[in-house]
Amino acid sequence: MGRFSEPQDPLFRALNSSISFDFRLAPYDIEQSLAHARMLAHSNIIHANDLAAIEAGLAQVRDEVDSDAFELHEDDEDVHMAIERRLTEIAGDAGARLHTARSRNDQVATDVAMLVRAHSLGAVELLTGLMRILVEQAERHLDWPMPGYTHMQRAQPVYLSHHLLAYFWKFRRDLQRFNFCLTATDDLPLGAGALAGVNFDTDRMFVAQELGFGGIAENSIDAVSNRDFVLDYLSAAATCATHMSQLGGEIVVWSSDEFGFCEVADRFASGSSLMPQKKNPDAAELLRAKAPRVAGRLATVHGVLHGLPLTYNKDLQEDKEQLFDAIDTVELCLAVTSEMLQTITFDRERMAVAAADEFPAATDIADLLVKRGTPFRKAHGVVGGLVRAAVERGKALSELTEDELAELAPELDSEYYELLREGAWLESKVSEGATSVPRVREQLAQARHLVEAVEPARP
Ligand code: ARG
Repeated sequence: MGRFSEPQDPLFRALNSSISFDFRLAPYDIEQSLAHARMLAHSNIIHANDLAAIEAGLAQVRDEVDSDAFELHEDDEDVHMAIERRLTEIAGDAGARLHTARSRNDQVATDVAMLVRAHSLGAVELLTGLMRILVEQAERHLDWPMPGYTHMQRAQPVYLSHHLLAYFWKFRRDLQRFNFCLTATDDLPLGAGALAGVNFDTDRMFVAQELGFGGIAENSIDAVSNRDFVLDYLSAAATCATHMSQLGGEIVVWSSDEFGFCEVADRFASGSSLMPQKKNPDAAELLRAKAPRVAGRLATVHGVLHGLPLTYNKDLQEDKEQLFDAIDTVELCLAVTSEMLQTITFDRERMAVAAADEFPAATDIADLLVKRGTPFRKAHGVVGGLVRAAVERGKALSELTEDELAELAPELDSEYYELLREGAWLESKVSEGATSVPRVREQLAQARHLVEAVEPARP
């Protein structure tokens, strides 16, 4: 109990204890403790035989953790105290020397940075897999027309490949954001002590190299108060979850009888307890619904850090459950998205029928006028008149007679009918990044190159 005259109140203990959730930091805590002990011996702060006892003891602790045999004590407030307590039971005084020149403040910042780095690499790997699947599906559906939408109204037809690849680029930016988290976790906090540094001539770079950090945090006050890397991970995770939510939302809509564009595999759907005919795309619905939860984790940690004085405050303990939940959510969602996309089937006919609607060609007709010298804004008005006339007369655009055309838009001739032949307004989209097959092939090649070139930023 040291300076305290009475034991902790059970209510305070319940509020204060983090062991129920931070025990998942144990593998990182053990690894950094090993590196710290080796540095202490290397810097002649502890003896070689103490190091040997610590190494053997921590190996045993690791085995106990790995085999779920680690027994928690009532007094184990957090993972750091639990591991040190167990090590000391095993290794005696040598174990009690481990915490020399270290504080839980620099220790916890280091554990969390290590965890963020590991899971950023994990997210990069999961995203690479997902991007590969998108490339394969885009290749498979290269020239399948479908309606493209704005305001959820049919706007202009596109190829399914083009639409799927739109998600490729969103996930590619997510990958870059998770890669940035590797930079954000590259400076080792350990060695900062409680906040001011320690009373020993330690070798922080030695520890950094042992643990795979690129360098050391330059300022001990910053080192123990910095949780930017938690925000960076949560921000990347929230944006990534938002992208999966958009994809999930589209799959939900496309799976409806009204659209009938796609069908998820049975193993990603569920039935109704009441209606035997139902097949519900629950996986896609849950992808749609998970995003605000992850964004909420980000907002919560922003709230915890807001106005927080330097340096360590117990408030910082609140970052963990938010971070862990975001990690678990985003990793599960990425795995589900990959599997679901790999096994989804699209209905070529349904999409083609929906894309064959002629009204989306209105822009193309306007552009035909523009190519003949009419200013675009005027052409927009002329074609708007054509569309209104067609709607009023219950006709498709191509069903307007030559006489009607001469009356409504004398600038147009037989090329108008040619343009309305199905498909013409997909292949006319020739600009860079557009939907014509040659342009989609270009971005496919680029996308394929990127997934083949992706290598984790660190071993
Ligand atoms: N469990 C604490 C946390 O997660 C560890 C650091 C405690 N440091 C302290 N000075 N009480 O933030």
